[in-house]
Amino acid sequence: MVRKKIEGMVIDDLKESDLPEVVAIETVSFTMPWSEALFYNEIHNPGSILKVARVNGRIAGYICVNQIIDEGHILNLAVHPEFRGTGIASSLIEYVIHYLKEKSCRFIFLEVRISNETAKKMYEKFDFEVIGTRKNYYLLPVEDAVIMTLKLKE
Ligand SMILES: CC(C)(COP(=O)(O)OP(=O)(O)OC[C@H]1O[C@@H](n2cnc3c(N)ncnc32)[C@H](O)[C@@H]1OP(=O)(O)O)[C@@H](O)C(=O)NCCC(=O)NCCS
Repeated sequence: MVRKKIEGMVIDDLKESDLPEVVAIETVSFTMPWSEALFYNEIHNPGSILKVARVNGRIAGYICVNQIIDEGHILNLAVHPEFRGTGIASSLIEYVIHYLKEKSCRFIFLEVRISNETAKKMYEKFDFEVIGTRKNYYLLPVEDAVIMTLKLKE
């Protein structure tokens, strides 16, 4: 597959004023989308790291990560359909890995739908490994989650 890389992308904090655009991407990306209130709570959670990728002023994607002591947990990641396949999610994951290493994290965890081959392939590209499953973790449709982890090098 020939993949075009996007020019002029910047990673920035996710702010309250970004919420309508973020929720619009969320809604087209997931069957059980986070509400605006849920994003709002994460913005005001001191343990949360929320970043957007902006391209020419538009939000192309976002990531939400929680840090608890020396563990990071990727809670949400999505890219606007028009920008998929251009390295936006990879840039957000690279940013988060670097950020969590700087914060002395030792592991990053995440859950992903067992059928989400694109996301699983993406995380494997960053050396995340499957460590287990959570039975019926998701609804709409009911589906198992795969738990993946990345051990961060000291
Ligand atoms: C999964 C998602 C975030 C990927 O975002 P993206 O910006 O398109 O991803 P990137 O362009 O950075 O690609 C990263 C890797 O994902 C994989 N990938 C991306 N698109 C793919 C596709 N269409 N088919 C197969 N693998 C694909 C590849 O391994 C790719 O690495 P490569 O470019 O070196 O081959 C995006 O498809 C999305 O928002 N999906 C809906 C929401 C979702 O599933 N979020 C993840 C929940 S855990």
